[in-house]
Amino acid sequence: MAKEFDTVVIGAGPGGYVCAIRAAQLGQKVAVVEREYLGGVCLNVGCIPSKAMINAANYLYKSQNAFSNMGFQLPGNIEVDHKKLQTWKQGVCDKMSGGVKQLLKGNKVEVVMGEANFVSKNEIKVGSDTLKAKNFVVATGSRPIEIPGFEYDEQTVLSSTGGLAQDKSLKSLLVIGGGYIGLEIGTFMAKLGTKVTVIEAGPSLLSGVVEKDMVQVLQRKLKKLGVNVVLNAKAKSFKKAQMGLSLSVEVNGKEETFDGEKILVTVGRKPNSDQLNLKGVGVAIDERGFVKTDAQMRTNVPNIFAIGDIIGQPMLAHKASHEGIIAAEVIAGHNRVFDAKTIPAVIFTDPEIAYCGMTEEEAKKEFGEVLVSKFPFGANGKAVSMMETDGFVKYIADKKEHVIRGVHICGPQASNLISEAVLAIEMGARLEDVALSIHPHPTLGETMMEAAEATLGHAIHVL
Ligand code: FAD
Ligand code: NAI
Repeated sequence: MAKEFDTVVIGAGPGGYVCAIRAAQLGQKVAVVEREYLGGVCLNVGCIPSKAMINAANYLYKSQNAFSNMGFQLPGNIEVDHKKLQTWKQGVCDKMSGGVKQLLKGNKVEVVMGEANFVSKNEIKVGSDTLKAKNFVVATGSRPIEIPGFEYDEQTVLSSTGGLAQDKSLKSLLVIGGGYIGLEIGTFMAKLGTKVTVIEAGPSLLSGVVEKDMVQVLQRKLKKLGVNVVLNAKAKSFKKAQMGLSLSVEVNGKEETFDGEKILVTVGRKPNSDQLNLKGVGVAIDERGFVKTDAQMRTNVPNIFAIGDIIGQPMLAHKASHEGIIAAEVIAGHNRVFDAKTIPAVIFTDPEIAYCGMTEEEAKKEFGEVLVSKFPFGANGKAVSMMETDGFVKYIADKKEHVIRGVHICGPQASNLISEAVLAIEMGARLEDVALSIHPHPTLGETMMEAAEATLGHAIHVL
């Protein structure tokens, strides 16, 4: 006997579980199908474990680098128990994933564990069970891209999942790919005492993703952490060597070798659109494997919706959740479309990088003349007392109206500060709106106000 639902969501990541809860809140009979873990990549092998490791490594780094300046004497070197660190990290993930289980239960969403496959546009198989529904939402996420010759065995060649699960100290790590994941994992590994080398194919780290002036600040700190960054470099092959592995790399056309204990490959992710017979039921997929949708998250098959990493860039958890809410509301008959003005992005490096809206170049193209200015964290009392003075807040506004078009932050708590900028852009705020809003003292948030003042030409705390 087939089980029948109003809506079945496939995949319980931040796209899928949020969609299922919202659909249930709107009175739908909902099931969510998940083959591996509630909370998806994000809660189990992505955002949450990586941020847990970053936070842990930051405590260690600060105790080693800030304590003595503040007059705290440590009795000796701090030893890291990597097994215990992993157990703690897993506890954080389990807590979050367990919370999702409770939320789904509390909202009366039926959870079906197993791999879903479409039989028809109204029917899926999960093992021997058949689930029928009026509407389906595909939220099956993405997986790491593999490069030929560097297949993941999670022993020698690690994906992000293996990189986050090391329960012994690594002497050295070769990271292929200087994007989001390579830099986040590379940074916390370096703080835990690993000698890290980043091999990046492009001419810059985070190439084409963030403004150059932010990359410069990041690169200076990476150098301080002992991270070796090799640009214009393509990994070719590797072999076992006396001290671990020897990686052969083409750097600016010349062959060089780099030694390391393990290799972490972080060269992007690809959508999981090839594993559940989407093509068989007529869902259109582009040449890179992304499912095509309209602004209501509907595919070309009217009762099948898709959200999250599977529909394309940016592959970010908050984008997936936002799309999940839209899909649920559209299915429930609401008039919703994806109309966000900006999707913020954060890279949890040291310092953190966060941005939303336009780059300077994009704003110039659209508005001709623009106002651009920065306020440095070095002039902010809170940042100085935290000993985290690298970086700045930068605003980009059009010259005529002073409307804020882009905000780029590189510095402490950039990940939290950016939300004010997102609200400003969504509200169509002008520089004056932020500059005239009283920000509490002493906080990092004051940099947002002072950067707006600086862009208007009258910041108090910079000359
Ligand atoms: P996923 O989270 O990938 O969930 C999809 C789910 O579908 C999975 O649980 C999978 O098991 C399940 N599934 C797949 N196929 C089937 C099937 N046929 N049947 C049943 N179930 C199926 N983003 C951020 O915004 N901030 C961060 O700090 C951040 N850090 C990250 C760190 C790392 C190391 C990684 C790898 C990613 C990170 N991301 C981050 C990206 C973020 O994890 C993804 O954008 C997000 O998880 C996408 O959500 P989703 O719901 O589309 O898919
Ligand atoms: P990425 O796209 O961020 O970076 C991949 C990098 O690898 C690029 O700089 C690229 O030039 C380089 N590269 C590609 N092929 C290469 C090769 N053969 N040799 C050397 N370098 C090569 O991909 P990444 O880091 O795997 O992350 C995937 C996605 O996951 C991100 O794009 C992001 O959407 C998401 N993510 C988000 C995080 C956050 O929000 N903080 C954290 C981690 C991941």
